[in-house]
Amino acid sequence: MLVVTTIAGVRARRQELWRQGKTVAFVPTMGALHEGHLSLVRRGRELADEVWASVFVNPTQFGPGEDFERYPRHLDQDVALLTKEGAALVFAPSVKEMYPRPPEVQVTLPRLAPHLCGAHRPGHFSGVALVVAKLFNIVQPEVALFGAKDFQQAVIIRRLVEDLNVPVRIEVVPTVREADGLAMSSRNSYLAESERQQAVALWQALAAAKAAVASGERRGSELEKLMLATLRRYPGVRPQYVAAVDPETLAPVERVAGGVLLAIAAYVGNTRLIDNLLVEVPQ
Ligand code: PAF
Repeated sequence: MLVVTTIAGVRARRQELWRQGKTVAFVPTMGALHEGHLSLVRRGRELADEVWASVFVNPTQFGPGEDFERYPRHLDQDVALLTKEGAALVFAPSVKEMYPRPPEVQVTLPRLAPHLCGAHRPGHFSGVALVVAKLFNIVQPEVALFGAKDFQQAVIIRRLVEDLNVPVRIEVVPTVREADGLAMSSRNSYLAESERQQAVALWQALAAAKAAVASGERRGSELEKLMLATLRRYPGVRPQYVAAVDPETLAPVERVAGGVLLAIAAYVGNTRLIDNLLVEVPQ
């Protein structure tokens, strides 16, 4: 597998593949790879001739006081995992390579970003949209893969691609979970053993709300109350938000019809975790 650190290097390799008539599936990541990322790579291999990943902890999507400095960085381990999964190239640029000077262009999505995580992480999705737009321009993949755990991110990227006519297909891959239901996340590595046990609360809350929908509950507010009550059974967990929203607009739903996205963000100790579940409602 090629490890490329410059934009020019990626472009040169891309030219070569075009000459050979080969396609690229792209998996953008911030590294500290886990089974969730690897499932994206595996799916990518089914969709294109080569899978390319990026490993870049993007400073523009972290707010003041967030974990940019301490975000886990294990490039050697990531390279080994990507090699094992059959990825053909990893783009691992420096901050200077991606942002030689402070970016002047901003990418804002004023209707989608303020919901859910965006309400608590101002500027986060502008940073994500900016870096993903840059990465798409650098790599120019035929298809790009994102995890459903970051559902709001996936909605925003789909819209970015649509509005800016970026010629890439977006594929969203289901969340990979631990045996007890905890969604895989690079931030799980921050959890102490006792916190790890409490972290299952998010999945338990989502499962309780899903069961309520199956039993006929249609009121968004009741589903939110149920998720909150479930989280409160875990003393080590501090909910940030619970929400029952429209999966397309991300706006809160009063009455569930069709599909509903159940979403949670909560602190376990000092670690902020998110999870969600898309529930289809029988008509
Ligand atoms: O989901 C992530 O890891 C990041 O938000 C992404 C898409 C790689 C952009 O930095």
